[in-house]
Amino acid sequence: LTTDQSSGQKYVVLKSAEGTTAEIFLHGAHVTSWKTVSGEEVLFVSKQAVYKPPKAIRGGIPVCFPQFGGFGPLSQHGFARNSEFAVTDSAADSVTLSLTPSKDQLQLFPHPFELKVKVDVGNDVLEQTLTATNTGSKAFELTAALHTYFSISSIDKARVDGLSGVDYLDSLQDKRRLTENGASVRFGGEVDRIYLATPSRLEVVDEGRGRAVVVEKQGFPDAVVWNPWVDKAAGMGDFGDDEYKEMVCLEPAVAGSGPVTLQPGATWTAKQTLSLRQL
Ligand code: BG6
Repeated sequence: LTTDQSSGQKYVVLKSAEGTTAEIFLHGAHVTSWKTVSGEEVLFVSKQAVYKPPKAIRGGIPVCFPQFGGFGPLSQHGFARNSEFAVTDSAADSVTLSLTPSKDQLQLFPHPFELKVKVDVGNDVLEQTLTATNTGSKAFELTAALHTYFSISSIDKARVDGLSGVDYLDSLQDKRRLTENGASVRFGGEVDRIYLATPSRLEVVDEGRGRAVVVEKQGFPDAVVWNPWVDKAAGMGDFGDDEYKEMVCLEPAVAGSGPVTLQPGATWTAKQTLSLRQL
């Protein structure tokens, strides 16, 4: 465990045999860095990110659990991203962090569970697995996301591929259901959409860097695409006014196609695998 000098928060550093690295904060089981063997950072983190509760870290990969967005009674994106996890297993290239809700959290969400977040690095690969077990005596419903912020060269050179023909709920139009007509999703303004039951393989293509990040997901039927653009960026205290040009969120999720019902003793598992493809 390493301690971040400015925030005092603890994080874990992983390194694969080939030299891929990742950093994971115990605050939120939050991946804040994933670097390729050649040392290139793939994830975006805001220069104004706050590494302490009550904020979730702005960037990297917030874990939205047991609720995505406003799909339930909790505050936006649930409380996991704002909770301290414990390390329950670790190796040079792998770590498992675990969370059980506190008494206060059980007041808001009266459903005991154990959430495990496993992060593995391989040869230019990052893999992240969520495993949630209902440790209580009643069934409960959950929604979730791996709210991944990708670093891009510039917003006009970035696109998301794999969503052509897919239906989505437009969060900017009261969750109106529309169909993606474009070959790619491009960004010329604010975008906040929940694509429903998408293909399992999607890509964030960066024409400026000549490469794509390949996102393969299992157990997450949906995928959220988000860029805050000018006005939302200006309204966020932990995000620079111009940083919307440097990031795109593509978030494997259980959202509009959810929720998942977890019976007592049952386990839900979902995962994303990120890798690179040169254009
Ligand atoms: C996205 C949502 O997943 O997260 C957006 O679709 C939201 O509506 C964004 O603005 C950021 O949320 P937060 O709570 O981290 O500011």
